[in-house]
Amino acid sequence: MAENYKRYTVTAALPYANGPVHIGHLAGVYLPADIYVRYLRAQNRDVKFICGSDEHGVPITIRAKKEGITPQQAVDKYHELIKQSFEDFNVSFDIYDRTSSKIHHETASDFFLKLYNDGKFIEQTTQQYYDEEAKQFLADRYIVGTCPKCGNENAYGDQCESCGSTLNATDLINPKSTLSGAVPVMRETKHWYLPLNEYEAWLREWIVEGHKSDWKPNVYGQCKSWIDQGLQPRAVTRDLDWGVPVPVKGAEGKVLYVWFDAPIGYISATKALTPDWEKYWKDKETKLVHFIGKDNIVFHCIIFPAMLKAHGDYILPDNVPANEFLNLEGDKISTSRNWAVWLHEYLQDFPGKGDVLRYMLCANAPETKDNDFTWKDYQSRNNNELLAILGNFINRAVVLTQKYYNGAVPERGELTDYDKEVLGVLEGMPLVISTYLERYRFRDALSELMNLARLGNKYLADTEPWKLIKTDEERVKTIMNIALQISASLNILMEPFLPASAQKLSNMLNKPVGKWAEAGAADLLAVGHVIGTPELMFEKIEDAAVEAQVQKLLDTKKANEAANAVAEPAKENITFEEFSKMDIRIGTILAAEKVAKTKKLLKLTIDTGIDQRTVVSGIAEFFNPEDIIGQQVSILVNLAPRDIKGITSQGMILMAENSDGSLAFVQPSKQIMNGGGVS
Ligand code: 2FM
Ligand code: ZN
Repeated sequence: MAENYKRYTVTAALPYANGPVHIGHLAGVYLPADIYVRYLRAQNRDVKFICGSDEHGVPITIRAKKEGITPQQAVDKYHELIKQSFEDFNVSFDIYDRTSSKIHHETASDFFLKLYNDGKFIEQTTQQYYDEEAKQFLADRYIVGTCPKCGNENAYGDQCESCGSTLNATDLINPKSTLSGAVPVMRETKHWYLPLNEYEAWLREWIVEGHKSDWKPNVYGQCKSWIDQGLQPRAVTRDLDWGVPVPVKGAEGKVLYVWFDAPIGYISATKALTPDWEKYWKDKETKLVHFIGKDNIVFHCIIFPAMLKAHGDYILPDNVPANEFLNLEGDKISTSRNWAVWLHEYLQDFPGKGDVLRYMLCANAPETKDNDFTWKDYQSRNNNELLAILGNFINRAVVLTQKYYNGAVPERGELTDYDKEVLGVLEGMPLVISTYLERYRFRDALSELMNLARLGNKYLADTEPWKLIKTDEERVKTIMNIALQISASLNILMEPFLPASAQKLSNMLNKPVGKWAEAGAADLLAVGHVIGTPELMFEKIEDAAVEAQVQKLLDTKKANEAANAVAEPAKENITFEEFSKMDIRIGTILAAEKVAKTKKLLKLTIDTGIDQRTVVSGIAEFFNPEDIIGQQVSILVNLAPRDIKGITSQGMILMAENSDGSLAFVQPSKQIMNGGGVS
């Protein structure tokens, strides 16, 4: 498919170097970007794939504080981790740079200065929260207080995570600095603002009028709604000691707002990659595409373009195919709650199975709405699709060719109508898939790829060469030749999605993965070409492997519940006399048995020192009767007897309850005589 563009600059959102990458990032941004770029390369197009770590801003300083390290140490740690895991996942960036680099600081600084000198900013002095103890202005994330909308006492200065409202720091009731705990005061500070309002008309024309039909509805809709609400000047500097210093006089102690410097990171990374970088950013014949998650839409569609426009030298994005969010087992992915599948951990737990995750995340990509990742689905996509359809077809084609012809591609004889039909579908497939890819519809593209594998399977199942070989060897040659041609096309078409598997198949076919233009041809593998040794492309994923992952998540959930558990408020005061009325003793469990036809009840015989008595206790879900015999417990001996399920219960065992509802005995810390009083 020819396009008017001479070259492509494809960027993927710079991840904050404040934690590892998870499947939500991959499904939303990096995987579709990588598929797109690999496809462009297969089309012989001139493309640069740009990414790097976003190493500035409050997300970094908060993480550093949490870990008790410096911001530099934090970004060093996570930059390396992220870079390595992308590499291991075969994300084929041309460069993975970082915004703490010298070249980036210079580029961002120069960009600001150009706008500053051209009079593109307005200066404004406003009142902002200041922490007198920590001696610094407080970024929104450094202020907590009570949400005016829902009463949550831990709402942040920019957002309440409990009710989801967007807030201003000044909206918070009882604001507190998270740095020192101090009550912040208002102090004057000067900042530079990009007057977005001045770009409103232009943005409306460019996006609302110009990109109605080619931008994804979710992206277009968000932009339109922002523009319709009216744009305001936006501060591009911050009072923070971590970031790119504002390069003008009177701005000491101030840095560029991270959302000002980060997108410039795309430009600086391209600079670091090639001396030809200007072609990729300034030539109108370059197509610029930003892959991002939906939370980044406003920055990439409104603010960054306004910056580029203000600067004047740069091209604008042709498209910003933002995805929605991926959830995990029905719950929002969250770094702070550790509710995620971390890429580096996945690659450790499932070595050699990067492509399975790529397949799963593309087949289930949140392209038009939020989607859910479940481990069951992961397993079934592998076993029932990758293995049963794609792997099975390739395996049959390659193994039978080895078996019947010692690996040499046989010649086709006369074609039946069925053969012609199959070759016809094969021929049309590259265009079908590339049409989807050019429109950023990666799920549909992948599904067509699988349809080709399905067709191959069906062709073999219908023609049954393994039976026919006994009666019609000539016909089998034609069938196998066609099956091999399909395999060779699959090899090209699958590479963007499943690069490691494509490499395996290329070894099996003993032919380098070809270019897109070759795919679909009926003679991709020449007659007589000798293919390589069969190997399995995919293997079955057993229940135990996914169950272990589900267990890991359940453990996380439990740990979170325990960490977030808050004790019930105290009950009303009572007098000492009231308390003294309770006669609590230490006793020993002599016997224990389940109460028939109940789930929760145990019948206990307790030596209270005073007597031996029966107590019915609702603890059967937490204790095996045989395990508790001999244990000392605290027992309220003067509780009036009650009939429970026909048994008279004389007293009550004291139990302590955990956040998950589990129970434990309240026991003496050393052996105490039965009947010893508790007071
Ligand atoms: O949301 C994020 O993770 C940001 N670090 C994305 C930045 S994209 C670009 F502007 F650098
Ligand atoms: Zn709230």
